Amino acid sequence: MSNVRTVRDSQVVMSQVMLPGDANPTGNVHGGVIMKLVDTAAGVCATRHVRGRTVTARIDSMSFLQPVYVGDLVTLKASVNDVGRTSMEVGVRVEAEDLQTGVVRHVSSAHLVFVALDDQGRPREVPPIVAETDEEKRRMAEAKLRRGNRQRGDEAVRAFRDQNGSRAALAGWRNPEAPFIVVGHRGAAGSAPENTMPSFERALALGVDAIELDVHLSRDGVPVVIHDHTLDRTTNGTGPVTGMTAAELKVLDAAHRFRGADVRAGVPTLDEVLAWAKGKTRVVIELKGTQNPNLVPRTLDCIQKQAMLGDVLLISFDHQALMDVRVRSSDVSTGALYVGRPADPVALATACGADALCPHWASVTAEDVATVHRAGLAVCVWTVNEPAEVEAVLRLGLDAVTSDYPERVAAIAQRDRIALQPLE
Ligand code: G3P
Ligand code: CA
Repeated sequence: MSNVRTVRDSQVVMSQVMLPGDANPTGNVHGGVIMKLVDTAAGVCATRHVRGRTVTARIDSMSFLQPVYVGDLVTLKASVNDVGRTSMEVGVRVEAEDLQTGVVRHVSSAHLVFVALDDQGRPREVPPIVAETDEEKRRMAEAKLRRGNRQRGDEAVRAFRDQNGSRAALAGWRNPEAPFIVVGHRGAAGSAPENTMPSFERALALGVDAIELDVHLSRDGVPVVIHDHTLDRTTNGTGPVTGMTAAELKVLDAAHRFRGADVRAGVPTLDEVLAWAKGKTRVVIELKGTQNPNLVPRTLDCIQKQAMLGDVLLISFDHQALMDVRVRSSDVSTGALYVGRPADPVALATACGADALCPHWASVTAEDVATVHRAGLAVCVWTVNEPAEVEAVLRLGLDAVTSDYPERVAAIAQRDRIALQPLE
């Protein structure tokens, strides 16, 4: 007996009266109610075609053409349109009959893809289908076009992610010998006064791939590099950073408090640091003083002035600020800083258009990293300082590791790489 099926073999017609419980607050029937009926009718049709288990793989092009009312008799007509190796497309036409007038309206149409499964839940081959009428031939030809479009769409999205994903953008920052990008936190804050030129110079001498720094706006609206909102902890000034002009901040001493360092260094402007970094190292810029709405545009101005859009990663705990960055520029990479372990890290990044997720190192697992990578996003952790912490993150598959002691991170990663090399 032939394995080939006809469209009639699996066709389904299913009717149901719409009840008050199916209505949304405006009195029409919920789209979700219709969608559930569509999935049910299509599922019956798919199961009939394979005479085995099936699962809905996607619901495509579901269109609602007219409202459906309580009291309408809804009729769903489902038939197999197209068959691939392990999947099939089912088309569903939905009609609603006003039982009092007898008028029938075409209210919805949908195309669904089902996958046939064997007893172990693995995809199995779907029996072929043959068209008997001209109408069936037309539907099959249209379904083949949709199948091609779906495949081309999926491939285009994959290619887009590969070319434009942050992982690809940041990949060029990494020393090919190292497992991840090594970022010097506030320069080399473990051995030099944080967020000062001496700290950035030391980080460069230690061989970092990028420096990290924090920005606020000065009283005269210039992006300046300092961590706290106030001057007291790291400089010989007092009060808020926003209380002084960039020129006044420049002549403060932001270095001497660091373990009694004899070097003097002012609070640098972002402009000054970027001009120094250009061609030498990449820069991770943390947007700190985001309560001032000018911080984002002024920071972008500095980056554009130095033509460094591809050499910076803008990060922030303020995801609204990252959205603002994304609205203003699609060419700059951004990273969402956060604390803890979100249920859906990819959604967290997507919500603000970020290319990278930047969690604290201790809340990341290798599974989380793999999930984020599958979405084409990068994972950059902070702040890994102790040797045991470096050991803990070595095999998570991270894209970047930020440290006050970047030399420790680089040395342990290098030792690990050598240890993992096979013996000759
Ligand atoms: O790299 C991110 C990290 O710098 C965030 O924390 O307080 O050091 O700016 P914080
Ligand atoms: Ca920071």
